[in-house]
Amino acid sequence: MYRSHNCGVLRSSDIDTVVTLSGWVQKSRDLGGMTFIDLRDRYGITQLAFNMEVNEELCLAARKLGREFVVQVEGTVIERSSKNKNIPTGDIEIKVSALKVLNASKTPPFTIEDNTDGGEDIRMKYRYLDLRRKTVRENLMLRSKIAIETRKFLSDLEFIEVETPVLIKSTPEGARDFVVPSRMNANQFYALPQSPQTFKQLLMVAGFDKYFQIVKCFRDEDLRADRQPEFTQIDCEMSFVEQDDILNTFEELTRHLIKETKGIDLPTFPRMDYADAMRLYGSDKPDIRFGMEFVEINELTQNKGFKVFDDAELILAINAEGCANYTRKQLDALTKWVKRPQIGALGLIYVKYNEDGTYKSSVDKFYSQEDLAEWCAKAGAKPGDLLFVISGEKDKARKQMGELRLKMGTELGLRNPEVFAPLWVMDFPLLEWDEDSQRYHAMHHPFTSPKMEDFDKIEESPAEVRANAYDLVLNGSEVGGGSIRIHDRELQRIMFKHLGFTDEEAQNQFGFLMDAFEYGAPPHGGIAFGLDRLCSIIGGADSIRDFIAFPKNNSGRDVMIDAPSPLAQDQLDELSIANVEKVTAE
Ligand code: AMO
Repeated sequence: MYRSHNCGVLRSSDIDTVVTLSGWVQKSRDLGGMTFIDLRDRYGITQLAFNMEVNEELCLAARKLGREFVVQVEGTVIERSSKNKNIPTGDIEIKVSALKVLNASKTPPFTIEDNTDGGEDIRMKYRYLDLRRKTVRENLMLRSKIAIETRKFLSDLEFIEVETPVLIKSTPEGARDFVVPSRMNANQFYALPQSPQTFKQLLMVAGFDKYFQIVKCFRDEDLRADRQPEFTQIDCEMSFVEQDDILNTFEELTRHLIKETKGIDLPTFPRMDYADAMRLYGSDKPDIRFGMEFVEINELTQNKGFKVFDDAELILAINAEGCANYTRKQLDALTKWVKRPQIGALGLIYVKYNEDGTYKSSVDKFYSQEDLAEWCAKAGAKPGDLLFVISGEKDKARKQMGELRLKMGTELGLRNPEVFAPLWVMDFPLLEWDEDSQRYHAMHHPFTSPKMEDFDKIEESPAEVRANAYDLVLNGSEVGGGSIRIHDRELQRIMFKHLGFTDEEAQNQFGFLMDAFEYGAPPHGGIAFGLDRLCSIIGGADSIRDFIAFPKNNSGRDVMIDAPSPLAQDQLDELSIANVEKVTAE
């Protein structure tokens, strides 16, 4: 028997019990006649005590143990003379009577502590050591809990969990595919799924009615803090439902998960149209933990001789409460920040509404105190507040102001990770114009149904057609997205036509789905949550990496196993990869 108890359970009530514990040496301290060791496992830390006077040999053996040695001890639970209030086992220690080294350890390349001295790269290379740290382990335990609670919640509602294939067919929509060469079908490739979208729709045609899957998805896109090349979705689909049925079901799921993990009861989630989200926050995923909504001030600012504003399509203001005392240096730093290429604003104008009721702005030359008073009134500013103004082409000004708003929210401490502000963003446009390919793309995906009341605009002004599509936004991050689908072959054909597919191309790529629509496809719709993102937000972190056991770095590499890696020539030959080069070259 390796252990009678784990390292997190023993308390004062166990005093005098003889126990066996196994774990890792976290820390050891020699205090002359005594040696203390913190023994760690997944469940906690228990202090081991060795007394030179009682058993010299044992104490000397304990002193030889290095960090991260794996040991087994036998001993008696005793009361500690100096108690540690910071850990649950802090009232007791083990008076050790036997010690066995189960395995030695090299000195780890970084400290296995909450605040480790290891940088990101080294921790990724030795991820199994990083995973020993409490913070990282707790992130993964949170993830496990969320996955288990999701399964419980959905299976209670009679959702069926179905696995869909991982080797599928490459399609041109969406992000880039990861592809896998087929040995048995020379010069042909599978693609890894970007999502199980078409399969879950086929399951609806098959009559499964309610499907879910916690499933790996793969997208070959540029990586960011909230994006990994392989990530996990809680993927769901339902038949005979309208949009509200889906929103209500998955709002309940989200509420359940936050209650179970954080103990917080969330009220009904607000809903906002995409158009309003863009107008008020310059983003389709607004962080509504704080206000600072945009105010449009064209009519108050134009035709007063300030050319920058006169030429602008849109002039936006936000009110930063209590910031009128910002220094020149702070304002210059913010101006520099919005002018960085990533944000791209031409400049930043401010108006200080001083405590004494006067106004001071960077455009005093053009505007009187009365003018500035009007701007401040429209933005709801009080004495002591600071207005920021950005102008330019509509979409760009909104995006830039959206970034500034988030930055100010962070600076002013308005984005508390312990506060949860969910929001449904509704009525997304069906299509979006893509500059690179000079054609419309589906904003969500090509299987999303248009709002029928808008559909007569599809020829004349396709950008104005709205979709039955929705996103769940949590604290400014898109955690889920879905739509009511097209279930009619002819409508799906028209959609593909507007997306630039010929009938033949549509049939080649998606014939299997359109054919299925001819065999009694029920009305259906669904949603997919990004599990990694949901976990990171509930866990209060920005990066999803720490909620993935073995993540990739920003170049898409797993530095621990050193992947991706080259293949030997005979493996390439077997996969006809060399031939592919020849075929394309010819
Ligand atoms: P969508 O593409 O919006 O929808 O993806 C759903 C959710 O998955 C998460 N997500 C990601 N998470 C981490 N890394 C990535 N690279 C990544 N890409 C997406 C996001 C996102 O909201 N089939 C549709 C869903 C449907 O219509 O039912 C789909 O995949 O949190």
